[in-house]
Amino acid sequence: MKRTIEPRFRPKGRNWPKIYAFIVECGGSTKSTSATSMAAEGALRGYTGVVFDLDANRSTTTILGYDAEAMEGRKTVLDLIHGTATLDEVALPARYRIGDGYDDDAFVYIPGLRVVPSCKEMSTADTAIAEDADRQDWFAEILRSYEGDDDVFWIDFPASYGKMVYSVIRMLDEEDCVIPSVRADPKDVKLLIPLFEELERVRDKNRLRRSVPGRPTVNHLILTGTPTPSYTEASARKATALAESLYGDILTPYIRYSADAKKLYDDFCPLPILLPNSVPAVDYRKLMTCIGFPDRT
Ligand SMILES: Nc1ncnc2c1ncn2[C@@H]1O[C@H](COP(=O)(O)OP(=O)(O)OP(=O)(O)O)[C@@H](O)[C@H]1O
Ligand SMILES: [Mg+2]
Repeated sequence: MKRTIEPRFRPKGRNWPKIYAFIVECGGSTKSTSATSMAAEGALRGYTGVVFDLDANRSTTTILGYDAEAMEGRKTVLDLIHGTATLDEVALPARYRIGDGYDDDAFVYIPGLRVVPSCKEMSTADTAIAEDADRQDWFAEILRSYEGDDDVFWIDFPASYGKMVYSVIRMLDEEDCVIPSVRADPKDVKLLIPLFEELERVRDKNRLRRSVPGRPTVNHLILTGTPTPSYTEASARKATALAESLYGDILTPYIRYSADAKKLYDDFCPLPILLPNSVPAVDYRKLMTCIGFPDRT
């Protein structure tokens, strides 16, 4: 039986979930950390979801339980782009490692969360779309044919704006959420201007179209690695002041700096599960409550 879905997770009464798109053309800006932390925390709070990993670096795929060896022989998001598999065939149950090997008992599964895994070959996605114009509609087709009851689609993007990225973000409406996650560093904060320009270009291009929503909108901005009593870098303080002055209206509660955050990539497990008492995990919980995900378990 289907769950009852809150209307806010089906904007304008459509059949597919609300989308949170972690995007900004800046490498190492903390997109994957935020996407995996929020998706995992959301699932722990009772909000079901699918995390799409669109980056050839496979960070999100690995953090949610599938390293290169675990991925052998499995389908990936590239199959969705080529139209050779369905969403349910590609999406895998999110999990984290508690033991050695690849048997089921080496993992704990995160209820209510699936991951659409990426692959190294995702670097060819732009070319695949350029060579076959029909492929531009891959994401639109997935959304329109969706019949599930997930609350949210979380999407982790590569640090570039190409044809593949466009094929996804043109499907966002104003009620969805482009949610850049940037480090408290002035040069990262400055990369938000090209993001706003890119979104404006997408909106302009689709203004008169009726077949796609075409209105990607930044309604939240995450600032990570912000100062703490023991982390007082001048650049972090300057970036925080800059973000407050330019984007104060969309800033979410800060995700403070912690060297612990790096352990995410040693242990490959979402931060709120790996280190639930760490400063950033505490902050991601606060952020989730603030943007509309109170605990409903
Ligand atoms: N709150 C934090 N404090 C300190 N370091 C952090 C924090 N959050 C994330 N990091 C670190 O920042 C680095 C980059 O994070 P992440 O991989 O999430 O960025 P990304 O934008 O997805 O990068 P890419 O563009 O390469 O995919 C990682 O080493 C991560 O551990
Ligand atoms: Mg990433």
